[in-house]
Amino acid sequence: MKTLRVGMIGYNFMGKAHSNAWRQAGRFFDLPARIEMKTICGRNLEAVERAKEKLGWQICATDWRSIVDDRDIDIIDICTPNDTHAEIAVAAAQMGKAILCEKPLARNVAEAERMTDAVKKARVVNMVCHNYRRIPAIALAKKMIKRGDIGERIFHYRARYAQDWILDPNFPLGWRLQNKIAGSGANGDIDAHIIDLARYLVGEISEVCGAAMETFIKERPLPDFDKTRGNPSKKKGKVTVDDAVSWIGRFKNGALANLEATRFAAGRKNHIALEINGSKGSLGFDFEDMNRLDFFSTEDPQDTRGFRSILVTEPQHDYARAFWPPGHIIGYEHTFVATFADFVKAIVAGKSVQPTFEDGLQNERVLAAVAESAKTRAWVKM
Ligand SMILES: NC(=O)c1ccc[n+]([C@@H]2O[C@H](COP(=O)([O-])OP(=O)(O)OC[C@H]3O[C@@H](n4cnc5c(N)ncnc54)[C@H](O)[C@@H]3O)[C@@H](O)[C@H]2O)c1
Repeated sequence: MKTLRVGMIGYNFMGKAHSNAWRQAGRFFDLPARIEMKTICGRNLEAVERAKEKLGWQICATDWRSIVDDRDIDIIDICTPNDTHAEIAVAAAQMGKAILCEKPLARNVAEAERMTDAVKKARVVNMVCHNYRRIPAIALAKKMIKRGDIGERIFHYRARYAQDWILDPNFPLGWRLQNKIAGSGANGDIDAHIIDLARYLVGEISEVCGAAMETFIKERPLPDFDKTRGNPSKKKGKVTVDDAVSWIGRFKNGALANLEATRFAAGRKNHIALEINGSKGSLGFDFEDMNRLDFFSTEDPQDTRGFRSILVTEPQHDYARAFWPPGHIIGYEHTFVATFADFVKAIVAGKSVQPTFEDGLQNERVLAAVAESAKTRAWVKM
């Protein structure tokens, strides 16, 4: 069996999720290749050495170029802030590596175009890590929509991605709050995920009919947060991204879209709530109860009709069957395990699996249309 060697760049939040997924993918899924977790990369030697030990990598590096240039590495896994994605991905494509890149693909459409051109030109397998597609309940929703379980026509896609981690005005001005690094705020960070699910479940978005964006807290303490005394830095910097965004739009197939992404919803931690209404029924999903999918069908007998909650853990359910027996529920980390399993299969087959960089680029176009609509207060066609 072929061995695929991975080089991963960035070792914090996503680095931890990805390290776990590289280790676990072959334990749950029958993969056509062995995975070797070869090199982990970060800028600080001491910290990356600690991460290497903790996360289970063979060696570490402090310059991502050394991994991209390493002929022994087959896969480049990008887990760094958004301003680095384009440069790393283009270099990795030129070296013929398969690339898994965290979302959003880039900071803007121009960068995403460059990345997509590079992977196409080099014909390398590529994927954007929109891990929520591989939740068994979402995979079931996709299957049910395709089968016509909620009807031939879809009328509404409503999605809300709500968090509250920057509600505190003393939360420091980290990279996610700086446009130069992140490209945008709630829009690229979390709206991107529900846009990806919209495109996956319902279809292409044709226009943004109206968007509102707001930066509620305009200035925040600079990130040299005084950890010893627990006081925020006295110096403040300007927040240059949106704190929240909401918008309505249309899909090519005539359905209406209604999306909201915010990091200011007190009590909401990682609330990804979807409702899709069709001509014969509806589907509902909430990530905070991710093993379940709600389903209402107008074909049920009138006297017992109502939303039913499907526990998506049966062997008939895609991805779920790879994990545990029915009722033995899965969590956040499994979404990455399932994503990486599909990516490894794609590399061996030599054909990218969705969401590809092309999907990431289309996603960026929607994000840009939302930002433009918020700025101009006009409708924006895709
Ligand atoms: N799929 C998801 O649901 C999901 C969730 C969170 C974050 N993300 C995405 O993952 C990416 C990383 O986010 P995170 O939350 O892990 O960020 P983070 O701040 O927790 O970690 C970033 C890591 O990148 C490293 N890094 C930064 N610049 C580097 C460079 N030039 N060379 C090498 N290493 C560098 C940092 O040292 C750190 O280890 C972002 O693009 C983010 O949008 C995706």
